[in-house]
Amino acid sequence: MAFHEPWNDAVAATIIAQHKAQEGATLPIFHALQKAFGYVPAEAVPMIAEALNLSRAEVHGVLTFYHDFRSEPPGCHILKLCRAEACQAAGGDHLATGVERQLGIKLGETTPDQQVTLEPVFCLGLCAVAPSAMLDDQPIGRVDAARLDALLNEVRS
Ligand code: FES
Repeated sequence: MAFHEPWNDAVAATIIAQHKAQEGATLPIFHALQKAFGYVPAEAVPMIAEALNLSRAEVHGVLTFYHDFRSEPPGCHILKLCRAEACQAAGGDHLATGVERQLGIKLGETTPDQQVTLEPVFCLGLCAVAPSAMLDDQPIGRVDAARLDALLNEVRS
């Protein structure tokens, strides 16, 4: 299960202050905020813009360019399905369609009970054991629908 604290302006300001002197601080700040809160909310954009002397549009542009950053809180569990070439060649499309059907959501969405967020990822470095997935930061190779179903039932229970 992914543990994230609720959004908090003061904690966010501390995180931003810790990273703002870094070269190319925008991405490290996004990563640190997402690690703490599970996402990078809209409230963070003006804070980052002010700290880095950038426009809000610039910060928003970088934030939305990268698929890794969420703008909404994730579910309790995060399932990432690899959508890159080797995994697609090994049945990744079929797997993704099946998982979407099973969870009743599309890639990029969270189940209505806030239990599972389903996200695409583009290569987990597990191409040799494709198709691959990651459940709550645990990599899974040679994954199939039945195995994912069992793992999801395990973490949700
Ligand atoms: S393409 Fe899926 S792990 Fe590399």
